[in-house]
Amino acid sequence: MLNEKGFDLWAEDYDTSVAASNEDNSYPFAGYNRVLRRIAQTVLQKPGAAVLDIGFGTGTLTAHLYEKGCAVWGQDFSAKMIALAQAKMPNAHLYQGDFTKGLVPPLLQNRYHFITATYSLHHLTLAQKVSFLQSLLPLLEEGGQVLIGDVAFADASSQTACRAQAGEEWDPDEFYFVYDELLPYFPQLRFEAVSHCAGILTLSK
Ligand SMILES: C[S@@+](CC[C@H](N)C(=O)[O-])C[C@H]1O[C@@H](n2cnc3c(N)ncnc32)[C@H](O)[C@@H]1O
Repeated sequence: MLNEKGFDLWAEDYDTSVAASNEDNSYPFAGYNRVLRRIAQTVLQKPGAAVLDIGFGTGTLTAHLYEKGCAVWGQDFSAKMIALAQAKMPNAHLYQGDFTKGLVPPLLQNRYHFITATYSLHHLTLAQKVSFLQSLLPLLEEGGQVLIGDVAFADASSQTACRAQAGEEWDPDEFYFVYDELLPYFPQLRFEAVSHCAGILTLSK
């Protein structure tokens, strides 16, 4: 599993390597463009939405939302990713911090129409996901949503099939989202499969 220095090193090549995996429809980024597009479509239904993006990376999703008039906040632990994203969004409120320790205090002061996290929260175990997601719900405006796009599966058997197909490429250190493992904790959770290895989880307040 990469730490912040690993993500610093990956930052310059990140967009290129994601695009290659997205284009040849291979694990882990098969469906990446569609995941981000679907999430952006949802957010942009609310003009001028306040959006918090967790693990925003180079800002591919948030820079698009920013250009369309959203107010953007974010947290990431990689200084290099933050620099690349901030250059695209000069007025976004981007903070450095490790989300395994929670959100940095300034982000807890606001309320958001959407909290997004794409391809970032699979670094958390199931127990960590549950407690982190629970901590996000009070930060949503009434009717707000947490939108998670990631390597994600409806159930364990879909994950097993993807793992078999990915073979040596499979990263055993990640804790991918499995919808029916989270459902007992969040009965309102919804899941939409986007590719053989990607999906969107929507958690409403
Ligand atoms: C695979 S990239 C995804 C970037 C972007 N959201 C996207 O969809 O392209 C994961 C991002 O999460 C950040 N990240 C990973 N673990 C983190 C942690 N524990 N705390 C804060 N940021 C983290 C990394 O620095 C990186 O920018």
